[in-house]
Amino acid sequence: MKVLGLVASPRKIGNSEIIVKEIVSSLPAEWDKEMIRMTDLNIGLCKACYACLPRDKRCVLDDDLNYFLDRVKAADKVVIAAPVYYLGQHTSLKLVNDRLISIQNNTAEYATGKQCVIAVPHTVPGWEGYGREAAMHFARFLGLDVTGTVILRSILPGDVLREDLLLKIRALAQSLVNNARVDFIDEDKAYCPECGSSLLQIFHNGQWRCVMCSSKGQLKSENGEFRLALIPARPSRFSAEGLAEHGCTLTNIKEEYIRRKDEVREAQQKYR
Ligand SMILES: Cc1cc2nc3c(=O)[nH]c(=O)nc-3n(C[C@H](O)[C@H](O)[C@H](O)COP(=O)(O)O)c2cc1C
Repeated sequence: MKVLGLVASPRKIGNSEIIVKEIVSSLPAEWDKEMIRMTDLNIGLCKACYACLPRDKRCVLDDDLNYFLDRVKAADKVVIAAPVYYLGQHTSLKLVNDRLISIQNNTAEYATGKQCVIAVPHTVPGWEGYGREAAMHFARFLGLDVTGTVILRSILPGDVLREDLLLKIRALAQSLVNNARVDFIDEDKAYCPECGSSLLQIFHNGQWRCVMCSSKGQLKSENGEFRLALIPARPSRFSAEGLAEHGCTLTNIKEEYIRRKDEVREAQQKYR
């Protein structure tokens, strides 16, 4: 069994690195373990060139993206620790995320549903923002199956070693051993029944829509409590089928660009 730990923080031996090392060191000794500090990778900006879109074509930029994707592909299980930065994810995740068009067309190869657990340290109460959701969709666009998440409030490096937090970190590790699901969610909050995101839009007509997976449904009131009734969208966005469908959409956009290239150039001309 190969486990890949991803540390999405610039801090060496910060909370994210401690979490990844704590999880990985709780796993069976015979498992292979590898850790990547995302901030050590040289990942450039997506140029929106769509050169990666034909099937089996990799990103043409000469940096560490393909190395990173190969490491994910080689792993059986993935651990991600990604701190909240300005209510969202650290840039090192977003940089990779923006480069993932190159695998949208090869989902059969990537979307293998490998187990992934995610820990999100943050500091300020109420400032956890969408850090958990951003890390979850980063994993899902890599084709990983997010089977556990935890948000951990910590102020200084090492604060995640507090007894109650350590129990949760170890439970994530145990879930990897048992192939189980474990989510430390806030019982008072509503989560998307399809993807587990807490980013929900509420409409005046009583409908809700998940920002991350676009599932929707109706808010139902039962015994003084609100419940999210789901109208499942098929294929679900993060399933292999859903990701492949998005790959087709992107390929169609590229073909449309090729067809309408002269028209596009003409529209741009005035603004050069
Ligand atoms: C630039 C920056 C932005 C941050 N933004 C937030 C934030 O929006 N919400 C929050 O709760 N904590 C925020 N934090 C605190 C970190 O999430 C917290 O210290 C975390 O434990 C860092 O993990 P690390 O030690 O792995 O880097 C921020 C820290 C930095 C350096």
